[in-house]
Amino acid sequence: MPSPQRWGRALLLLSVALPGAESKIDRKSIVQQYNLKLNHSHPYSPVQVGNGNFAFGVDVTGLQTFLPHNTLSSWGWHNSSLPTTPNQTLPSDYTGVYWWTHDRLVNYAQPNPAQKEISQWMIANPHRINLGRVGLWFGGIAGGNVTEELLAGQNQVLDLWEGTITSSFSINGSEVQITTTASPETDTVAIEICSSLIKTAGLGVFFDFPYATGRNKFDAPFVGLFNATSNHTTALQTRDRGAQITHTLDATTYVADIAWKGYARISRLHEDEHKYILAASQNSERLAFTVTYAPRASNTSCTPEAVKRDAKAWWANYWSTGAFVSLPSASNSSANELQRRTILSQYLIAVNGAGKDPPQESGLVNNGWYGKFHLEMVFWHLTQWAIWDKWDLLNRSIGVYQRFLPTSYERAEKQGYDGARLGKMSDPTGRSAPGEINSVLIWQQPHPMYFAEMEYRSFPTEKTLKKWNDVLVGVADFMASYAFWNSTTNRYDLGPPMYPVSENTNPNATINPTFELAYWRFGLDVASKWQARQNQSIPESWTHVHDNLAPFPTEEDAYVTYEGIPDMWTTSEYTEDHPGLLGINGWLPPDSRVDPAVFNHTIEKVYETWNFTYSYGWDFPLFAITEARQGDAERAISQLLDVNNAFDEVGMPEGGTRVPTPYFPAAAGLLLAVGMMCGGWDGCDGPVWPVDWQVECEGFLRAM
Ligand SMILES: *[C@@H]1O[C@H](CO)[C@@H](O)[C@H](O)[C@H]1NC(C)=O
Ligand SMILES: *[C@@H]1O[C@H](CO)[C@@H](O)[C@H](O)[C@H]1NC(C)=O
Ligand SMILES: *[C@@H]1O[C@H](CO)[C@@H](O)[C@H](O)[C@H]1NC(C)=O
Ligand SMILES: *[C@@H]1O[C@H](CO)[C@@H](O)[C@H](O)[C@H]1NC(C)=O
Ligand SMILES: *[C@@H]1O[C@H](CO)[C@@H](O)[C@H](O)[C@H]1NC(C)=O
Ligand SMILES: *[C@@H]1O[C@H](CO)[C@@H](O)[C@H](O)[C@H]1NC(C)=O
Ligand SMILES: *[C@@H]1O[C@H](CO)[C@@H](O)[C@H](O)[C@H]1NC(C)=O
Ligand SMILES: *[C@@H]1O[C@H](CO)[C@@H](O)[C@H](O)[C@H]1NC(C)=O
Ligand SMILES: *[C@@H]1O[C@H](CO)[C@@H](O)[C@H](O)[C@H]1NC(C)=O
Ligand SMILES: *[C@@H]1O[C@H](CO)[C@@H](O)[C@H](O)[C@H]1NC(C)=O
Ligand SMILES: *[C@@H]1O[C@H](CO)[C@@H](O)[C@H](O)[C@H]1NC(C)=O
Ligand SMILES: *[C@@H]1O[C@H](CO)[C@@H](O)[C@H](O)[C@H]1NC(C)=O
Repeated sequence: MPSPQRWGRALLLLSVALPGAESKIDRKSIVQQYNLKLNHSHPYSPVQVGNGNFAFGVDVTGLQTFLPHNTLSSWGWHNSSLPTTPNQTLPSDYTGVYWWTHDRLVNYAQPNPAQKEISQWMIANPHRINLGRVGLWFGGIAGGNVTEELLAGQNQVLDLWEGTITSSFSINGSEVQITTTASPETDTVAIEICSSLIKTAGLGVFFDFPYATGRNKFDAPFVGLFNATSNHTTALQTRDRGAQITHTLDATTYVADIAWKGYARISRLHEDEHKYILAASQNSERLAFTVTYAPRASNTSCTPEAVKRDAKAWWANYWSTGAFVSLPSASNSSANELQRRTILSQYLIAVNGAGKDPPQESGLVNNGWYGKFHLEMVFWHLTQWAIWDKWDLLNRSIGVYQRFLPTSYERAEKQGYDGARLGKMSDPTGRSAPGEINSVLIWQQPHPMYFAEMEYRSFPTEKTLKKWNDVLVGVADFMASYAFWNSTTNRYDLGPPMYPVSENTNPNATINPTFELAYWRFGLDVASKWQARQNQSIPESWTHVHDNLAPFPTEEDAYVTYEGIPDMWTTSEYTEDHPGLLGINGWLPPDSRVDPAVFNHTIEKVYETWNFTYSYGWDFPLFAITEARQGDAERAISQLLDVNNAFDEVGMPEGGTRVPTPYFPAAAGLLLAVGMMCGGWDGCDGPVWPVDWQVECEGFLRAM
């Protein structure tokens, strides 16, 4: 236990928000202090509106005029045609590969060198699609060829409290003002354009639709191909004050339903392209419409006013409920930057990371890993919702464990294990993409135990016990069955083959990684408690594995990544990437086997040897949580503000040297770290902030 003085409680003001109680913090003024105020398009990162299942990214015009920023959803996916190579024409032809696993051959879903085409197809399909582009159509202005350089007085504000972007500029002396809002309920964008140019120069909007190919693992910053026009079709159907454009890409079909106010008309620009122009047809200086993207046509059309009203109410409620932190931004530039990152991350995570499935690493901004989501990253994306007391948003996607349970049982059975083995790089059907790392990584398995236990701490009810029981039993059975009884040492080993969290070791040599040993014990412990709470007997195998797992591997008085790792601290490939071994005391509540002195020594060894320029994503929040639990708030903050952990001007967490921007585990991880520094954990009531910072925290839940 760190000494209480280092927590610097004296100057901290802690108020606990009671249900229905007024917030003591003036949340609105803090949130609006970080409203985006821009005067140019960001070449890479869009400004976004969205609702967790749908997001619309824009340039300086408030639309996708100059830059084809993306419109992504949780439901829009596409399969390319299957390969035509003989014997590789169907997913069922794919066989995976066999690797020796403790003297037996186990089938792993990895690319099969003898089945390259179908293996790659299963990696790249289905891929997430860009639903379409909506931009300003300049009519007769500058011969229709307006570039951003021709605009003057650009001024764009994203009002975070209301979820609306207001963009204004002038062309040739005429003012244009545009508001952009996404509905919190449907995948609708409401757009209102005011300008005399609508009347005098035919200013309107265009809609365009790209094809999807699955050719790029990272399809960033722009998703889809706008020039493969003969590979897909669109069809326009008009009605009074509205139209429906049906877009068909192979087996994928969806509609863009457009509903406008007043008199306007829509027409297709060229028969062989997918561009449609909407223009006001009377003497109007205003063009207001909604565009709703949906898998199928429906009759629920909405007005721009209703979308704006709903968004305003939703965002005000979002900011007003759950936890909130006020940092001393006026007097301290680090606090100001941390507050900026916190507020913008809260906004962006609600837009990009609160859908029906767990988010992909790049959210709904662009595509990483073909748009698929990773089950091991679920911890970093979603745990912050629990700490910030926003269970409704967590619950939107946490059912993924239940939904994927049947495919998880199949996976384990095919490999000769009991129970349910969770996959990794996933599409909404629960299929895990072939991959060497994908197939042998194991740290995603105990995540449901973490979420279940957090939920039970807040909602200790029968309903919670029931909700998680099947998942916990399935996963715990797998975890017990996966552990290998070593009759020489009389203990259970984890692996080989396996990849640890850091994915940088030889999988056939990796055995007993420190973090996974601790997490296995944590997971089995929660699963056992779950049975006890329901007066059910605890399977003996769970207890036996829990009690007899191999000890944490140490070398020279420090924990190491895995047992027998050669020259860990002097081999550069081992002193980079995720420092997962720190997770045994910080990320996880300290395992009873953790020796605090050895752990301290391990932290110092990591600091001495680690290549921080190669670190990314949640590494910095992990360091921060580790330091906070050590009672060192200064070091925790310096990790969150590390130069290699940058957030750009629109608040997107940068990918750094490894992955494209944004990489949202860094943003959600930041919220988790900040949340734990406010709410504390078992044995520390929190907050944990530097003594000279005046920090106000309200409504945070305590971590384990
Ligand atoms: C945007 O604002 C910055 C800072 O005020 C200024 O330097 C820059 O010239 C402006 N750019 C445009 C396109 O107006
Ligand atoms: C893609 O193909 C797979 C396998 O046939 C199927 O399960 C999935 O539903 C398809 N997805 C789409 C979006 O067509
Ligand atoms: C492809 O399948 C056919 C019929 O199932 C079989 O005769 C043939 O040997 C297979 N070819 C290869 C290259 O596996
Ligand atoms: C691991 O061992 C299997 C055989 O069981 C082998 O096919 C594979 O190439 C090995 N992987 C690595 C990364 O060495
Ligand atoms: C600006 O307006 C003037 C006069 O109306 C016109 O001659 C000129 O072409 C316009 N420029 C552009 C870029 O539209
Ligand atoms: C549009 O304007 C840009 C920049 O002024 C110019 O480079 C380009 O050639 C123009 N395109 C057309 C089709 O006129
Ligand atoms: C289509 O656009 C892509 C970029 O989006 C480009 O790489 C490609 O060369 C273009 N193809 C053709 C035929 O113009
Ligand atoms: C479009 O279809 C043609 C003809 O089937 C095909 O050759 C081409 O590769 C397709 N383009 C893309 C981008 O998939
Ligand atoms: C929409 O409503 C019209 C008139 O009520 C009806 O004819 C049509 O079938 C409906 N369409 C859908 C997709 O429900
Ligand atoms: C049992 O553990 C020892 C010590 O780690 C190891 O050398 C041996 O390979 C293990 N036995 C099996 C069958 O894995
Ligand atoms: C570990 O380090 C922390 C802070 O750095 C210190 O408070 C604690 O006493 C140390 N524990 C041991 C056992 O050295
Ligand atoms: C650390 O990582 C950076 C970025 O990937 C790399 O350029 C550099 O060579 C690495 N340094 C060492 C000592 O490995």
